[in-house]
Amino acid sequence: MQIGILGSGLMGGKLGTLFARAGHDVVFSYARSEQKLKRLARNAGPTARAGKPGEAAADADAVLLAVHWSRVNDVLGQAGDLSGRVVVTCSMPMNAADTDLVVAHTSSGAEELATRLPRSHVVSAFNTVPSEVLFGVFKRRRRAVRPSVLYCGDDAHAKKVAASLISDVGFEPVDAGPLRMARYTEPFTLVIARLAYETKRGPELAYRFERIRN
Ligand SMILES: NC(=O)c1ccc[n+]([C@@H]2O[C@H](COP(=O)([O-])OP(=O)(O)OC[C@H]3O[C@@H](n4cnc5c(N)ncnc54)[C@H](OP(=O)(O)O)[C@@H]3O)[C@@H](O)[C@H]2O)c1
Repeated sequence: MQIGILGSGLMGGKLGTLFARAGHDVVFSYARSEQKLKRLARNAGPTARAGKPGEAAADADAVLLAVHWSRVNDVLGQAGDLSGRVVVTCSMPMNAADTDLVVAHTSSGAEELATRLPRSHVVSAFNTVPSEVLFGVFKRRRRAVRPSVLYCGDDAHAKKVAASLISDVGFEPVDAGPLRMARYTEPFTLVIARLAYETKRGPELAYRFERIRN
């Protein structure tokens, strides 16, 4: 697939690198330094390049939105028309201090994004895991037992695309249902963040759902 990365920081930089290593064509965009985007592309391999958000979005089979909530309008403005596109978002609707959700319970960041992009197919994915665990999960991707990642969305094709990207990174995709489930998965991320960043055990944390039969 051709994947446009909108926001090449901790999440976008790492996920884009892993998508490229899994064989996808990747365009890294939206960082404050063009040098950083070029370096990311070089390290990610021959199928990656740096570009502007408009180039990342053009012809992409999927775009990954990975910016702070306060930058969403800016990056979408630069990306241009995303009609018909699969938009995978890991962006969380956090306040400026990153201490709390600014949208929750009756809506979610992913649903607000879908309202902002009514002609795109939004899937919420990857937001429930810390960036620090991504490379470790990718390294172990051929193991039979893999950690889970929740995803949700309203468009079947877009969900299929997101699920295959989740698998490529090394997680087991767990379909949480329609996009409105993001109003529950997004707060779950704050539990994960607490376990990752506010205990002494380190941020390399993933989770796994299991079905237990009697
Ligand atoms: N980090 C995590 O573990 C994690 C986990 C789950 C969900 N999330 C969510 O994922 C989203 C991205 O998080 P992140 O940690 O990857 O953030 P980040 O590291 O700050 O990356 C954001 C990207 O946006 C770029 N950017 C910011 N302001 C800009 C501007 N004015 N012009 C151009 N580029 C600009 C940054 O540029 P620079 O590279 O120059 O800084 C960076 O590439 C957030 O919504 C966050 O809540 C993060």
